[in-house]
Amino acid sequence: QLIQREDYAPFAWLVPEVALRFDLGIERTRVHSALTVQRNARANTAEFIRLEGDGITPLEVTVDGEAINSWSMDDGDLMVPLSGDTHQIEIVTEIDPSANTQLMGLFASNGMLCTQCEAEGFRRITFFPDRPDVLSVYSVRMSGSKDQFPILLCNGNLKASGERPDGTHWAEWHDPWPKPSYLFALVAGDLVANRDTFTTSSGREVELAIWVRDGDLERTDHAMDSLKRAMKWDEETFGREYDLDTFNVVAVSDFNMGAMENKGLNIFNTKYVLADRATATDGDYDAIEGVMAHEYFHNWSGNRVTCRDWFQLSLKEGFTVLRDQLFSQDMGSESVKRIEDVRVLRAVQFPEDSGPLAHPIRPDSYREISNFYTSTVYNKGAEVIRMMRTMCGPERFRSGCDLYFDRHDGQAATCEDFITAIEDGAGLDLRQFRLWYRQAGTPKVKVRLEHDGDTATLHLSQDVPPTPGQPEKLPVPIPLRLALFDRESGEHEGEQLVILEHAQASLTFSGFAAPPVLSINRGFSAPVAIERDTPVEDLVFLAANDDDPFARYEAMQDLVVAYLRDAASGALASERRAAGQQAILSAFASAVTDEALDDLMRGELLILPGHSYISEQLAVADPLAIHQEREGLKALLGSRLQTEFAAMHARASAISDGSDAVARGARKVKTQALVYLAAGVPERAKEIAAAQYDTATNMTDRLGALMVLAGLRSPERTDKILDFYTRFRDNPLVIDKWFAIQAQSLHPDVIEHVKALAKHPDFNIRNPNRVRSLFMAFTGAPQGFHAASGEGYRLIADLILELDPINPQTAARFVAPLGRWRRTERDRATLMRAELERISKAPKLSRDTFEQVTRSLG
Ligand code: ARG
Ligand code: ZN
Repeated sequence: QLIQREDYAPFAWLVPEVALRFDLGIERTRVHSALTVQRNARANTAEFIRLEGDGITPLEVTVDGEAINSWSMDDGDLMVPLSGDTHQIEIVTEIDPSANTQLMGLFASNGMLCTQCEAEGFRRITFFPDRPDVLSVYSVRMSGSKDQFPILLCNGNLKASGERPDGTHWAEWHDPWPKPSYLFALVAGDLVANRDTFTTSSGREVELAIWVRDGDLERTDHAMDSLKRAMKWDEETFGREYDLDTFNVVAVSDFNMGAMENKGLNIFNTKYVLADRATATDGDYDAIEGVMAHEYFHNWSGNRVTCRDWFQLSLKEGFTVLRDQLFSQDMGSESVKRIEDVRVLRAVQFPEDSGPLAHPIRPDSYREISNFYTSTVYNKGAEVIRMMRTMCGPERFRSGCDLYFDRHDGQAATCEDFITAIEDGAGLDLRQFRLWYRQAGTPKVKVRLEHDGDTATLHLSQDVPPTPGQPEKLPVPIPLRLALFDRESGEHEGEQLVILEHAQASLTFSGFAAPPVLSINRGFSAPVAIERDTPVEDLVFLAANDDDPFARYEAMQDLVVAYLRDAASGALASERRAAGQQAILSAFASAVTDEALDDLMRGELLILPGHSYISEQLAVADPLAIHQEREGLKALLGSRLQTEFAAMHARASAISDGSDAVARGARKVKTQALVYLAAGVPERAKEIAAAQYDTATNMTDRLGALMVLAGLRSPERTDKILDFYTRFRDNPLVIDKWFAIQAQSLHPDVIEHVKALAKHPDFNIRNPNRVRSLFMAFTGAPQGFHAASGEGYRLIADLILELDPINPQTAARFVAPLGRWRRTERDRATLMRAELERISKAPKLSRDTFEQVTRSLG
């Protein structure tokens, strides 16, 4: 059944209060729910109330204290006839958390009980109007074995607790803030806490606790520091203060997503909580800081102001991603963070936008909402709001946000509400800009610079490509930050912000006796694909001179992307090939040696554009050709610049111990040096990598070295892979890395490795982290996933079929890599399509996988 955005109607009933009682057990949990319901004056009247359910049956239903049997079931939902204007409904259900392999609703993880209710998990616990526009105040009483569940946590504030002689204990929690059911959470288990406090700007003291399993406590400090920094930053930057006496965070190892912002009780994937230098990489540290902040920021952008319906998901997710990005920019290097965010957008969201799963940041229809927790809704959603901020500046944007929070506090709002608040509060006219919410597809912007006399003319044109269900598009306003450089002095006279509103525009700039060099979309001011016919020497100029760090990175990328695109499509004559290589070599040589660069930034300049981003440049791509050209370029760089890379490695090794930015930068370039050396001079690289592995004092160095070795055929490879496993066999998060590094490696036998790893005793198809670390990683190994035999595609299709009955939400995530068939070379496209068809014919496909496969087949 297709759900349409246009069909929204308010619910016929309000549920101002909910009282829940849980008798907890891993195999049997009894749930007693009491709802106070009132007719909603703003909705159509109804003779019954529909309480949604998924896989549960009512054991008892009472209305106003009397047991009734006039209820009925409609496709899993409970229909209760109601005649008056207010009623009290009580329902008893029973669930088996240990059998909940979907990890939605109440489930068991390592002997503890926890919940995930967003988007539609609450209906797997009890019958309820499980939609975000029904806001209720929750009181919860939970009880269970004190032995098994010494800790009992829920949303809000703890009101009372006690013990009974039978070995059980209980706790009562109350959350004063009305919330939708998707923000409900409960945790019961044997946990220990890292405790701290935070005093808010108005002087209220908040008890903070991060709950983990015994033994993990020492690895929670970074998460706690990140949380406190996020709380402070949100007060300073957005004027948002925390609003409860306690803030609890619980780490669980079985989790479909990264984390969840349940009111006062965030639940996290352990991956985004636990870290120490020996077991977590610098990237992991950054991710923890970012996700901690993200979930905390939801307390305002998501919880205090929530979504009217799930089509508005980007209202909270796009905005909250922008907020966490701005936070991380402030905590570390602004430009490096910006580059990283753009890299993710291009690697994941651009392909989504150009493929069969393309959808606007505010979708128009869905079958299964879990499928719309996408990079488009999250990351493009953040970019769209960032553009608003760019157009009005941070101060006016803040006024717009203040107005939004003020106006809609306590409400379930829409994207339209957000846009209107920014218009009113920031004084922007966003009438045409709203198209960014409606239209899917990455706009293409063509840029041409002409020069005549002392005038430079910039010709801009835009085109939003057709996407499934949206054949025709209108031009969108595109804010472009740009600068024109004087070739001689290497300088420009100030940056400008140009907003391309129409399909075409020409702008003139006078005072240029010689043709200037154009730097455009600086800071990635708009999430568009720029097509510029910039001469190679101009890109080299920008790569060396641009004062906007993003633009400098971009010039390097453009240089390489153009080369690889043409090389991989066979469009590069040998003369141009040599010239392209020469330009890239010299740009890399200066990036390696430029003393004005810090290593974190140098590290960014030295990253080659990813496989998926290069494929994006071609209408139809041959994945193996791209892979080979990309590896070939790495080998060329590694061999021709081997002295420089080796020297960089040695220089960085001397300063790479520590947790400051200098050491982190050093670690980043160390492993990059290894990556290039391994491609160009593998014998030499093996030695350096083995030494880096052996002497590593931290996971960043150790894993970097292992990654490089994992791609090479050598005794060191076998040796270190075994060593790594033995060292870390008791740490699941590190063993995830061990799976991933092998599954994503450049090794020619990667398929065999993946098959063997799937049979490894530590592989567990019920654990999403483990599944992703083996199979999602594998989709990133082009020589394996895209093997001409089709074996890589078959492996993923087999996984989808096996995982779908266990965990449909996670299974459905694996469809997208196969869905790229239309943009893939013909023989492979046939194989990919055949696998999709095989999946589609499976007898009992989940709604999740069915929707993704159907859309992918088109
Ligand atoms: N709201 C969570 C976050 O982004 C994600 C929850 C996703 N849940 C799901 N079932 N898809 O912070
Ligand atoms: Zn979120």
